[in-house]
Amino acid sequence: MLRAKNILIGVTGSIAAYKIPILVRLLKKAGANVQVIMTDAAKNFVTNLSLSTVSNRPVYSDFFSADTGSWNSHIELAEWADLFVIAPLSANSMGKMVSGIADNLLLTTYLSARSKVMFAPAMDLDMYRHPSTNDNIKILVQRGHHIIEPTSGELASGLCGEGRMEEPENIFKVIESYFDKKSLLKGKKVLISAGPTYEAIDPVRFIGNHSSGKMGFALAEEMAGRGAEVYLISGPVSLQTPIGIKKRIDVVSANEMYQLCNQYFSQMDVTIMSAAIADFTPKQIADKKIKKGQGLANIELEPTKDVLLSLGKQKTENQLLVGFALETDQEIANAIKKLDNKNLDFIVLNSMNDKGAGFGVPTNKITIIDKYENAQSFELKTKKEVAVDIIDKIESLL
Ligand code: CTP
Repeated sequence: MLRAKNILIGVTGSIAAYKIPILVRLLKKAGANVQVIMTDAAKNFVTNLSLSTVSNRPVYSDFFSADTGSWNSHIELAEWADLFVIAPLSANSMGKMVSGIADNLLLTTYLSARSKVMFAPAMDLDMYRHPSTNDNIKILVQRGHHIIEPTSGELASGLCGEGRMEEPENIFKVIESYFDKKSLLKGKKVLISAGPTYEAIDPVRFIGNHSSGKMGFALAEEMAGRGAEVYLISGPVSLQTPIGIKKRIDVVSANEMYQLCNQYFSQMDVTIMSAAIADFTPKQIADKKIKKGQGLANIELEPTKDVLLSLGKQKTENQLLVGFALETDQEIANAIKKLDNKNLDFIVLNSMNDKGAGFGVPTNKITIIDKYENAQSFELKTKKEVAVDIIDKIESLL
């Protein structure tokens, strides 16, 4: 799992730094490439020599290496990393990360990080309990970083309580399970709806929408890649079936989408409704093509059945249900209403006001809102990358 993965370890000034060579050794043994960056304060607790020996690379602390005359680029380091683990994270460095201070190589690399960031706090009991530490941790978690919670026990100060950095063996396990993405979703049954629906007016005409199905298909591909058994129910799209999925079922209308989703739902562990299902359908479908000469002043519409609403009512404790919301105004408030009404675990909000988001385009910009009303906004990304973010969120709830 860790073979050839690039793992950046950031070490800050806390006594727990003396345990980091053990973590580096475990990662190296598992086949990972490990690059260590440390702050000046960290050098009081662990030597450069021990870390460079176990990582088999020079350890970086400064923007320049005086001996080689070379520039240690924080941007290159950040780009190189598949994962950035800051352990131990002192209260001081945590505060700087939160406020965007960039006065050393570790912090500039943090600001340039594109990979997942994990952090393992280590500090004295009272510092850990301080409201500012509490607030800082909340902010880092809201940014999508993963906290490796400290444990309770005897602290270097002689006090006993929370604040001890998690043991290197357990940090290693957290890193391993991050890369073992398949394990949590492996064998899980996942239903994904995708694409538009077409509501027939007569045998040749319909009312439809601009959904291309790309978001749902990207979700299906990513889910299958993580080992899930994927059932994809798709409206009319011109997309190839993603590799590795268990079953694709093509439907046309909102009513068919309703029937099929309800048929499969009870056997599923996870259901993601990304289809843009019509809310209204013609009351009458003409059985013959309506001739121009006949005229068509009005099309009388009736509401379709809300698929998510019906699935939310049947949902059991062991099932996860995810919906989408496309909004043009009061986005967050409207999305939260849908989340509650439809009994969802979280909702993915697309705002029509964001450039590059929505129908037809290869990119999307989302905000994930969970049932505790925590909203996490993501940058504009490709739909494939957005699928990774959504499925990471699902995994975190499994
Ligand atoms: N949805 C559904 N059945 C419908 C319509 C929509 O299951 N008949 C699902 C979509 O797949 C999506 C979510 O409901 O996951 C939200 O769709 P959206 O059109 O944004 O919201 P609506 O519930 O239709 O509400 P409104 O039109 O008032 O915004």
